[in-house]
Amino acid sequence: MSAILDGKCLVLGTCYYPEHWPETMWETDIKRMIETGIEVIRIAEFAWNKTEPVEGQFTYDFFDRFLDLCDQYGMKVIFGTPTATPPAWLTEKYPEVLNADIEGSLYRHGARRHYNYNSLVYQTLSARIVRKLAAHYAGRKCIIGWQIDNELNCEREWFYSEADTEAFRLFLRDKYGTLDALNEAWGTVFWNQTYTSWNEIHVPRKTISDSTNPHEVLDYIRFISESARRFAKMQSDILREYMKPDDFITTNGMFSNLDNHQMTAESLDFYTYDSYPNFAYCLDAYRDRPGDLKDRRWSRNLTEVRSVSPIYGIMEQQSGANGWNTRMEAPSPRPGQIALWTMQSIAHGADFISYFRWRTSTIGTEIYWHGILDYSGRENRRIREIRDIHAKLQKMKEIAGGRYAAKAALLKDYDNVFDARVDKWHNRVDWASEDALFNAAQKTHTPLDYVYLDHTDLDTLSAYQVIFYPHPAIMTKERADLLTAYVQSGGTLVIGCRSAYKDMNGKCVLENLPGLLSELTQADIPEYSFIAPDAGLVTIDWNGTQLEAVVFTDIVEPVGSGVLEGTYTADYYAGMGALVSNTVGKGKVYYYGTAFSEQAARVFLEKLGVAAPYRDVIIMPESCELAVRQNDSGTYLFVLNYLKMQAEIEIKTAMLDLISGKVISGKVEIPGYGVLVLKQI
Ligand code: GAL
Repeated sequence: MSAILDGKCLVLGTCYYPEHWPETMWETDIKRMIETGIEVIRIAEFAWNKTEPVEGQFTYDFFDRFLDLCDQYGMKVIFGTPTATPPAWLTEKYPEVLNADIEGSLYRHGARRHYNYNSLVYQTLSARIVRKLAAHYAGRKCIIGWQIDNELNCEREWFYSEADTEAFRLFLRDKYGTLDALNEAWGTVFWNQTYTSWNEIHVPRKTISDSTNPHEVLDYIRFISESARRFAKMQSDILREYMKPDDFITTNGMFSNLDNHQMTAESLDFYTYDSYPNFAYCLDAYRDRPGDLKDRRWSRNLTEVRSVSPIYGIMEQQSGANGWNTRMEAPSPRPGQIALWTMQSIAHGADFISYFRWRTSTIGTEIYWHGILDYSGRENRRIREIRDIHAKLQKMKEIAGGRYAAKAALLKDYDNVFDARVDKWHNRVDWASEDALFNAAQKTHTPLDYVYLDHTDLDTLSAYQVIFYPHPAIMTKERADLLTAYVQSGGTLVIGCRSAYKDMNGKCVLENLPGLLSELTQADIPEYSFIAPDAGLVTIDWNGTQLEAVVFTDIVEPVGSGVLEGTYTADYYAGMGALVSNTVGKGKVYYYGTAFSEQAARVFLEKLGVAAPYRDVIIMPESCELAVRQNDSGTYLFVLNYLKMQAEIEIKTAMLDLISGKVISGKVEIPGYGVLVLKQI
């Protein structure tokens, strides 16, 4: 059984770069990590030159000396394959391995992730270094697992090299067989884009209007995903030939244009995530948005991660300020925040948390990306906080292996996720609804899962009382049948506007809307529109409760057994249908004609009976997150206070505070950035 994620312990780790420090520092660093409670380190993921300094010449001494120390002190090691940073000798000799921008200009040596997945030379040289490393190091006692590459699709998730075009053509030949089929699937008759030879097809290139065929781009994203997955699988197949039976393979992420579920199923033992909640303070996307969850928003990323691996690891957990010398700036975690974010990761299902990084780099572009220790390595409050976290985790071990418990889910699928990247209309409703549903669930203390419809089955779906599938623009008969079976077996399904109007190629269907969902929903959409900028507040009257409509309005009329539950109250569609329900078997489906606002999402959670399932047990302010993990030993409630001021909660049924070891009830104060871990008794 693996040394982490064994269902028995919560393990701390850190990222260490022996190549960044004089060898004389290694031993003291390892000893000090162990004293801090760090049991695992990840190494080597950017160090290709340390084992292959010259093409075809391999030398293992450097990491052998380091691993000897790890063996000596009982430090466990995750060894990274170095393919995220190809050597200069390699890119200079074989420039075809480089990725390019959309105009075909190559990304040169000097940063990282400048390679493309499809260069045959890069695949061959990558396979060789992975084989050499695995053959030499995999048998070592200290090694417990392998990390493939580093953050696949990070830095650039678009690939425009010649090798990509070659591989894209093969991908398309395989998918469509004939050019006629491809032309039909991509609707190339539009604007005279018809292809008469495979060689006329390229990965997207610069066009006059910065737009290109959307059906092509949808396939291109699927192709990028497949390319990344194949690259990971190539490495994982090699590693499995050499690694010890209990060792594991993972990779860290997560990034766009990649089906992480499929990659994990075919190449990994579990997924690991890199969690930097302080990005909330340095990325424009999150800054200054009213009502934004800020660092608590990372719970949404963790929700995504646990949809891939219910029990996962954090390969890089923030332990200091963010910053490159060229971009990004975020403050140092305040006292308590490293612990808060560690517990946030654990609350969602992490049993392994590795801090990025042990020492702050004194060299390179990441000199401001702080680790646990500053440049000098002197004792500081961050290392003290991590020692304290370690002590707390010793009291919480029984949580290990526990799965996040939720009765409500948000449904997604990669075809629609990819389509929303290509299609701005789709993107707008998706973004609004996902934000609203997640925020509403968070603020009402309603545990929520993400589930991918293309990676699930009826049994998994049936575990949820309520499922939201906000805007599945793309729909297939098979998926509509699965949704129908879920509702028939007793589930409640809520579908939002803009659903089922596209096929798998992203082409709009000739049917009345909602297309393949018409029969299930018993709804008909005679017309639809974006909400006009001058429409004012558009609301929906749901049997007396007002819901705020946002972004888009489908007029929804009931047909057959459909029941009109709500009507619009504004603009020219006042009085027209906005919400239709239909009872099917033991369950019910709703077609909701707009995107979700946070207010409307709250009403749905409440009316459908899934809001705040623990309100009889515990009451807390909106600013605290409630997360619940369950295993054979019990049910564990995490209460996380993201604010700097203290929060008052009320425990209505006495529970065991795992960290203090006391049974507590009644009014309890949680300090700013504090966390309570309670066991139901
Ligand atoms: C991660 C990456 C690390 C380091 C860190 C800080 O995305 O995996 O190698 O670069 O960010 O920038």
